[in-house]
Amino acid sequence: MALASLPKIKGNFKGKDILSLDQFDIASLQKLFKLTKQMAEIAKKSKPSKLLAGNIVTLLFYEPSSRTFGSFAAAIKQLGGQTVEILDPQHFSSVYKGETFEDTIRVFEAYCDAIVIRHPQVGSAQAAADIASFAPIINAGDGPHEHPTQALLDLYTIYERFKKLDHLIGVVAGDMLYGRTVKSLIRGLALYKANTVYLLSPDKLRLSKEDFANFQKRHIKLIQIESEQDIPKNAHFWYWTRVQKERFTNLKDYEKVKNKFVLTPKLIKERAGAQTIFMHPLPRVGEISPKVDSNPRAVYLRSQIRNGMYIRMALLALILGKIRQ
Ligand code: CP
Repeated sequence: MALASLPKIKGNFKGKDILSLDQFDIASLQKLFKLTKQMAEIAKKSKPSKLLAGNIVTLLFYEPSSRTFGSFAAAIKQLGGQTVEILDPQHFSSVYKGETFEDTIRVFEAYCDAIVIRHPQVGSAQAAADIASFAPIINAGDGPHEHPTQALLDLYTIYERFKKLDHLIGVVAGDMLYGRTVKSLIRGLALYKANTVYLLSPDKLRLSKEDFANFQKRHIKLIQIESEQDIPKNAHFWYWTRVQKERFTNLKDYEKVKNKFVLTPKLIKERAGAQTIFMHPLPRVGEISPKVDSNPRAVYLRSQIRNGMYIRMALLALILGKIRQ
């Protein structure tokens, strides 16, 4: 399906596939964020709601995951729903015996009300949506392309802190080429006015020319920088990312570029502003020093993690039609 035919949310999430941040508009994000706040209250009470009672959601993960899988599973259970959990279907489902992607989607659709899918192929969530006849598909990461629910929680985390998503200055560091969270985050920030994002990456891991040109046509200013010394001192957020080892065909190439830019207390002292928050979609594998963890503005193991469950609770409640829209 072409990008133009992606189902736009336009304030009505019910039955929609969630494949890309391109489906969102500001009003839909505001609706989601308002509900996310309520979901946080439900989760904090440790008393499961019955909002998704009777619903079953399949979590079909062809790639490893801790946060996306765990927070979707927890979100469904927080709301009284149930899961069918297929981790590593290449080894633990009939995919191992040669069952096709198409048949796999059709089979799991028959058991549930929605499918959350992570897959290494770009466009796989879109392909699943094209195959499924009634169950909404949620993209939990399709190769280096997009990771929309990660961007939703990232945007919510920034919004919670600054009470706005416009007129922001951000620094994104690490792997722009293969990192999917970055691409969804830029799409989201580009919906709002006057945002500027500085992109700090090794030369070989810059955004592709195509992605850079595509994003530049949007309402966002992107500035590629080459050194930590180019980081502006007035950024609202720093968003560090992991170099995506699993996308490299040659490990020597990975070794050359991994951890070129490491977030340390020294760098914070030299380049961060008094308000800058420190984010990372995780996992981290050396690009943030553990010494940064105790900084109260390091949100990657605090609100950014918790918000992942809250936003997925809200998203599922809306998609499954449990909230009046
Ligand atoms: N942020 C994220 O997608 O983490 P996982 O790969 O652990 O799900």
